[in-house]
Amino acid sequence: MRTRTLGRTGPAVSALGLGLMGMSDLYGPADETESVATVHAALDAGVTLLDTGDFYGMGHNELLLRDALRGRDRDQVVISVKFGALRGPDGSWLGYDSRPEAVRTFLAYSLRRLGTDHVDVYRPARLDPAVPIEDQVGALAELVQAGYIRHIGLSEVGAETLRRAAAVHPISDLQIEYSLLSRGIEAEILPVARELGIGVTAYGVLSRGLLSGHWTPSRELAAGDFRSHSPRFQGENLERNLALTEALGKIAAAKGVTTAQLAIAWVAAQGDDIVPLVGARTRARLAESLGTADVELSGADLAEIEAAVPAGAAAGGRYAAAQLDHLDSEK
Ligand SMILES: NC(=O)c1ccc[n+]([C@@H]2O[C@H](COP(=O)([O-])OP(=O)(O)OC[C@H]3O[C@@H](n4cnc5c(N)ncnc54)[C@H](OP(=O)(O)O)[C@@H]3O)[C@@H](O)[C@H]2O)c1
Repeated sequence: MRTRTLGRTGPAVSALGLGLMGMSDLYGPADETESVATVHAALDAGVTLLDTGDFYGMGHNELLLRDALRGRDRDQVVISVKFGALRGPDGSWLGYDSRPEAVRTFLAYSLRRLGTDHVDVYRPARLDPAVPIEDQVGALAELVQAGYIRHIGLSEVGAETLRRAAAVHPISDLQIEYSLLSRGIEAEILPVARELGIGVTAYGVLSRGLLSGHWTPSRELAAGDFRSHSPRFQGENLERNLALTEALGKIAAAKGVTTAQLAIAWVAAQGDDIVPLVGARTRARLAESLGTADVELSGADLAEIEAAVPAGAAAGGRYAAAQLDHLDSEK
């Protein structure tokens, strides 16, 4: 497994990270035994970056990660945790809270659930508009000094927020959606991240499964599955997006790789400062993702891929309107 460094100040991590979200939340039921086996397989393959959030399954995802890491060397993994999302007992989304006292509380609970004395990268899941970013980063910087967190990351924020945050304390990486279907960061956010020495952990590299070659319109979605209300998975939008995936699939087949591998490799090829996070929750999906390491893309390949799936070709927004409203990166 190759490694990449997250920004100028962040940790060295595997060139592919594993996101655990779907093992607890948002993509319908997941099998806990298979989830743990998937994390073990990732570790055995050299994956060191593991991404979670305290609100993924209301703590379930962190407890799952603790179980999966039992008996493993804690110092060999980089645990990235998002905090700040407020949720009700029914799973509803109630907003975001990054007040300094809330940040300290969230971290205390996460450390206990994870069974560790520090988090490697700690980040607010969304910008809390009620708290100046300088205060949020200031609170996190105190936690760095106290040794409870090693690096400060951000998630789904825009260029101006990146600048204001980096003026307070070094930021290791920005976690943000980036894929052939979601190229919004290319105009301003990515250049500013590069100027500031901030790495990118790219999520949704398969556009939540849409770009994987495994999605079919007949797939039944459980209640609460993100994709049941994601604009890209609805009706005509879905048809148009699957046509783009099919075009990508033809290029993949000609190269002897899978559609998902080509989609992940395209993200990885956009710069050494980008680490794709994959949302595999079974060993089979993980194995497919790991196969990306052998995919080399030439300039001609990249041009062919971009001709098949041009920037802006996706039908429908990457989030529903109410969720887009929370994205500083979209303002
Ligand atoms: N910062 C943020 O705001 C934010 C938001 C979302 C996610 N994240 C993080 O990023 C991680 C990845 O995001 P994501 O899960 O939405 O993105 P993703 O990797 O684009 O999508 C995962 C989905 O793709 C499907 N899939 C099909 N083939 C696959 C393959 N070979 N490998 C992996 N998945 C395959 C999975 O299938 P099945 O349905 O068959 O399992 C799953 O439903 C999350 O786990 C989370 O840690 C961060």
